[in-house]
Amino acid sequence: MNRRRRIFEGKGKILFEGPEPGTLVQFFKDDATAFNKKKHEIVDGKGVLNNRISEYIFNHLNSMGIPTHFIKRLNMREQLIREVEIVPLEVVVRNIAAGSLSKRLGIDEGTALPRSIIEFYYKSDELDDPMVTEEHITAFGWATPQEIDDIMALSIRVNDFLAGLFLGAGIQLVDFKMECGRLWENDMMRIVVADEISPDSCRLWDTRTQDKLDKDRFRRDMGGLLEAYTEVARRLGILVDQERPMGTGPVLVQ
Ligand code: TMP
Ligand code: ASP
Repeated sequence: MNRRRRIFEGKGKILFEGPEPGTLVQFFKDDATAFNKKKHEIVDGKGVLNNRISEYIFNHLNSMGIPTHFIKRLNMREQLIREVEIVPLEVVVRNIAAGSLSKRLGIDEGTALPRSIIEFYYKSDELDDPMVTEEHITAFGWATPQEIDDIMALSIRVNDFLAGLFLGAGIQLVDFKMECGRLWENDMMRIVVADEISPDSCRLWDTRTQDKLDKDRFRRDMGGLLEAYTEVARRLGILVDQERPMGTGPVLVQ
């Protein structure tokens, strides 16, 4: 199957050469990792769910005019994307205190933030993705001031869209991480949303019960990771309800 040239292998995905120049195939693995791979497990079916959820989100972003690297899903585990030059930053947008922000600043998890907060982390496995400021980013040439402006504007638009999307599914978007890439078209370059957006890279809490429906279930040894991701997919209308009993006659359409 995978006789295509492998361009890059990350913790959760593999990139292969695409069918045409300027394209790549992004393959979603079943590996669940946290704390820079100090914690690692295979969760059968996670890659399939993340592929579908990320497809759904990126299709919506594209149709809203928010530029992304996504072209189309190819099969259960793969999607066709445009080749971009990844900006070496993880962009985190937070709406509610949780995780490292709660720890660093001593704010209880679940506290609503006065406004959405954008943070940058330098992508480096050796350094465990340290938090950096715009000063570091521009001084070390990871992105220009104009690119930082573009990235912040994009991340706010993505946050607004995602927060609304999940709210409609009874889910609070606590925070999420996104990555950006430089897409070259002739002599023009623009910043686009890249990588994936899935329950691996978001904190998603059930609005009513506050249950965690994201990778914190794995990070915090809570169990039920696949069930949680399946629930997110089901609420977004991506998966049909597979629990429905078979052969019991007509099913009431609600
Ligand atoms: P944090 O609270 O651990 O800094 O995480 C903030 C958000 O970013 C959370 O939704 C999880 C996501 N994230 C990643 O996707 N990858 C990472 O390497 C880290 C540290 C966080
Ligand atoms: N450190 C990240 C996390 O906790 C991901 C990883 O290291 O694979 O989510």
